[in-house]
Amino acid sequence: MALSVIILAAGKGTRMKSDLPKVLHPIANKPIVEHIINTVQSIDSDTINLVYGHGGDMLKEALRDYSLNWCLQEEQLGTGHAVMQAQTHISDSDDVMILVGDAPLISKETLESLIHAKQSCDLALLTVNLDDPTGMGRIVRDPQSDNISAIVEHKDASPEQLQISEINTGMMIMSGANLKRWLSALSNDNAQNEYYLTDVIAMAASEGKRIQSAQPQWQQEVEGINNRKQLAALECAYQHRLADKLMEDGVHIFDPYRIDVRGELSCGKDVSIDVNAVFEGNVVLGDRVKIGPNCVLKNCEIGSDTVIEAFSHIQDAKVQSNCTIGPYARLRPGADLGEGAKVGNFVEIKKAKVGKGSKVNHLSYIGDAELGEGVNIGAGTITCNYDGVNKFKTDIGDDVFIGSNSALVAPVTIQKGATVGAGSTITKSVEADNLAIARGKQRNISSWQKPVKKK
Ligand code: UD1
Ligand code: CA
Repeated sequence: MALSVIILAAGKGTRMKSDLPKVLHPIANKPIVEHIINTVQSIDSDTINLVYGHGGDMLKEALRDYSLNWCLQEEQLGTGHAVMQAQTHISDSDDVMILVGDAPLISKETLESLIHAKQSCDLALLTVNLDDPTGMGRIVRDPQSDNISAIVEHKDASPEQLQISEINTGMMIMSGANLKRWLSALSNDNAQNEYYLTDVIAMAASEGKRIQSAQPQWQQEVEGINNRKQLAALECAYQHRLADKLMEDGVHIFDPYRIDVRGELSCGKDVSIDVNAVFEGNVVLGDRVKIGPNCVLKNCEIGSDTVIEAFSHIQDAKVQSNCTIGPYARLRPGADLGEGAKVGNFVEIKKAKVGKGSKVNHLSYIGDAELGEGVNIGAGTITCNYDGVNKFKTDIGDDVFIGSNSALVAPVTIQKGATVGAGSTITKSVEADNLAIARGKQRNISSWQKPVKKK
């Protein structure tokens, strides 16, 4: 049987007070609705129907990589009306899973348990018990059999029904044939004059259909986001869950409340991560890598035993094993560090290869360059790679020593074993093992009269 999914995402999200449609607000740098789509993709579903209303162009742009049936709900006349917009894409023989578009943390396991519950009934419903069920639809059960007989919305509930703590999460599964038949019987004769999807429950019960419930593994999975506070709360919950998982896998996290993973982080053995590290995109850390406090790593691969000291920033870079980076280092796109390389404080490396064991320890800019092995770059060295229009390359051979405060004006080559005297501005290539000095000659003037203050 095919499984068709309908994600309800037409709500405006007024309380976000934003120009961005609610479901495009990010959790861990990824739109809320994309989290749900990715989770749906991880189960065996056949089609995904997205019911949208506001910000259609923005949504279509943000989700352009996904194959979705786009179902426009021009006016938001309720959750039942929203589901009606996807009806044409549903065949009678499908199982249809309806999800709310603003609860990003719903897990694969919970969706699977909902699917499992449907296997032995006609309608499976995801419910949860809340300490404070205010505002939510209440699950009404038959007092004798305990079978679910209806969902009553908060605004339509009697004082007794308001005491019920079991609530509707909005997520459910039923057959396409049943869904369509029940949708056609919905009315908007209720407190909010909306077509409530939840009314199908009473219809199912009155037809004698079997209704089962399933529960999420943890409550945050079914929490929707309506305002910025809830967005932040679910971001924390998401990060905390990821931190738990990393610790279970053997990562030493100094403080699980102070780590942010906005993408995929994969760690080898005995990796340690100090406070306030931010990981974005795809980050791979080898065995025993140490990340100091306040580092940002984005799309990079760090070899085993490398130490990244505090306040370092690494993006689209590759670092081999046994390197030392920072504190306060910046590796920009195309930085490629060989084994045992050292990049120290206030050093920026861009599109440059730094060979095995080479050192750039202090206050330097190395861009569009290739450094061999065993190179030592003195403090304050700059590769002058840009003439205002074009970029040029600097080539530095093995075992070269560049004295402090040198400017290497590219294109330029410093061959193997050469030395550049401190303070040089190098504009011509230097041959192997030569010493190049390009700086004003020092004159010492004796009997120098210091200036005196004018009266
Ligand atoms: C709904 C349920 C309620 C449940 C709660 C869980 C109904 C009638 N009520 O209430 O039982 O406890 O969700 O959060 O179903 N949406 C549309 N089009 C619409 C209306 C809503 O796409 O016309 C979407 C929203 O974008 C949202 C979801 O449906 O993703 C739920 O809508 P919301 O307004 O939050 O429903 P509630 O009234 O809170
Ligand atoms: Ca809601």
